[in-house]
Amino acid sequence: MAKPAWIPLSVPDLRGREAEYLAQCVADNWVSSAGPFVTELEVRMASLAGRDHAVATVNGTTALHLALIAAGVGRGDRVIVPDWTFGASTNAIYHAGGEPYFVDVTLESWTLDPELVADVVADRDNRVRAVIAVHALGHPADMEAIRTVAGDLPVIEDAAGAIGATYKGRRAGGLGDFGVFSFNGNKTVTAGGGGMVLTDDETSAKRIRHLSTQARPGSTYVHDAIGFNYRMTNLNAAVGLAQLERLDDMVAARRRIAARYDDAITGRDDVAAMPRTAWAESSCWLYSLKTASATDAGSLIDEFAKARIEARTFWESLAGQAPYRSAPSRLTGISESLSGTVVSLPCSSHLTGAEQDRVVAALAAWRGAALEKAA
Ligand SMILES: Cc1ncc(COP(=O)(O)O)c(C=O)c1O
Repeated sequence: MAKPAWIPLSVPDLRGREAEYLAQCVADNWVSSAGPFVTELEVRMASLAGRDHAVATVNGTTALHLALIAAGVGRGDRVIVPDWTFGASTNAIYHAGGEPYFVDVTLESWTLDPELVADVVADRDNRVRAVIAVHALGHPADMEAIRTVAGDLPVIEDAAGAIGATYKGRRAGGLGDFGVFSFNGNKTVTAGGGGMVLTDDETSAKRIRHLSTQARPGSTYVHDAIGFNYRMTNLNAAVGLAQLERLDDMVAARRRIAARYDDAITGRDDVAAMPRTAWAESSCWLYSLKTASATDAGSLIDEFAKARIEARTFWESLAGQAPYRSAPSRLTGISESLSGTVVSLPCSSHLTGAEQDRVVAALAAWRGAALEKAA
């Protein structure tokens, strides 16, 4: 019998006008970052998040880097960042010359714990100059609470995976002093690669744009700052724009898949669904569930591999990892408990009903195997 097709975790859904817009780039000879799709994507993203300004970059990491610089982070400064996030949130702090201050997440939302942030901020001698709040797996952090305890510190929203999510009815990306998105290939909306910084502050937006193109005030080779080559290309923006046109459908599809998997694990005590809170409507970027132990996570992944379905553990606590070990932290053990135990399941927006059936069946088979072992 032929093997069933492999089901990947989260792959691009390119059923819109991507090819048409890419062909237009070639026909118009606009492939570099000076092309019109870049501006169009910026305008659409600003409007989506309800912001005055948007600057497109080559990826989400560079968008974070520029947002940190605009927030005033420089050499020796510290930035509060959740301990449970992708390394990129932290690496960008080092790129800006700073150092992370790792703070734990809550069990309720798997996002930054505002009470712990308040503790760290209260210590005035800790050189903390900004806060990065990460919307984990598409679920917004408690932004109001974080902004309140952050006081006058700038707050950057790492909404890399949260396009389409809302917080108390407001769109992710419009909730911090700066909002940052990623258009990486595994995101709900991809541009192949790309990022975006959003802000209402005109001076910051101008500075970010200027720094992203080597800081040349004019068309001559005179520079007024140490800049970067961080601007998105027209080719990437063409794909991003076509994707953005289908944002609502793609987010709705991911939410339906999440609801289906939530149903499939109802009543089970060996796994817990990813968080839902009253303050947020998650974009359900990457459906993930929490298993009881790293051993369980491993056996689930193995069971899925047998059924030719990709499943993968998610983020690991950063504070103890080799590159970040010297940075300060305020941890309670929650990030540690999520490390190696949270497993992501296939949730591409064009995942078919039959593919979802296979995922649900694999979840049931894994439970069956565990019960058999225990008997
Ligand atoms: C939370 C978070 N921050 C930042 C990034 C970095 O984005 P990029 O891969 O576009 O550089 C990612 C990417 O997956 C992410 O998940």
